Amino acid sequence: MTSVNSAILESDIDTIDAKYLMCFVLNIELSDLPLKFDYNLSDAEYKKFTKLVKIRKTGTPIDIITGSKGFWASDFVVNENVLSPRPDSETIIESVLQHRTDKNKKYNILDLGTGSGCLLISLLLEYKNSIGIGVDISQKALSIAKTNADNNGLTNRIDFIQSDWFDNIPTQKFDIIISNPPYIPTYELKNLQEEVKKFDPVLALDGGNDGLDCYRNILKQMHNYIDKDSIIVVEFGYNQHQEINNLFLLNGYKLLSRQFDLSKIIRSHTYKKL
Ligand SMILES: C[S@@+](CC[C@H](N)C(=O)[O-])C[C@H]1O[C@@H](n2cnc3c(N)ncnc32)[C@H](O)[C@@H]1O
Repeated sequence: MTSVNSAILESDIDTIDAKYLMCFVLNIELSDLPLKFDYNLSDAEYKKFTKLVKIRKTGTPIDIITGSKGFWASDFVVNENVLSPRPDSETIIESVLQHRTDKNKKYNILDLGTGSGCLLISLLLEYKNSIGIGVDISQKALSIAKTNADNNGLTNRIDFIQSDWFDNIPTQKFDIIISNPPYIPTYELKNLQEEVKKFDPVLALDGGNDGLDCYRNILKQMHNYIDKDSIIVVEFGYNQHQEINNLFLLNGYKLLSRQFDLSKIIRSHTYKKL
């Protein structure tokens, strides 16, 4: 018989990874794990844990193994068809909360490149009277986003549209537009961590020659979907804030604020029309 604690110590993988896998096997929260340290695993639980440890040793990320990733205040279903939500992207949520403080108002929110839906879903859970559209070019991503919306009780407040940015979005004005588009320059893709290269869809990463292609495409049509009070919040790469700002200024937008990620890097900007 093996206790939870011994199985974690003997796993020979990063301890926090082993803890996540153990919680997955036991179907408990990480915060409850210490209470279970002395619990003796059943044969089936031990077998399942060692199997998952083996998969982890091949380089498969924890969230792909467990099929779930925490972001803002919820857990999201993820798989290899969506970018696994990153803590950096929480700067988008923080910025919207900072600029739109009345949580009871009804906002019409657009999320360009919704992936798992984590950004739009998190915002709609904050703004209980708001509605939103999540757009992605990938139908497989949209199907995960839809599952996440349903799991969070948002079926009636959210629509998903397969579209190349604005191409299929019916004309209307949005109060808030958010986007975390692909922004990695093509030539840098080969230098990414193996786990990212292997398990995040390239469609979610490749931003073209200089990484800014998606912003250029989005800016071509964005003016048709906003009015003078709309805000636009975009995420970008660690060294792109100046170029992004030049691009938005050139297209008639004014910078309202910048948001820093946990490593104190400028990670997103908020704009409105000049
Ligand atoms: C960096 S991921 C962001 C996913 C999610 N919003 C997040 O923050 O975790 C970018 C997303 O943009 C989508 N995408 C790429 N090109 C697109 C296009 N031309 N039109 C719409 N979506 C696109 C990708 O499929 C991917 O889901």
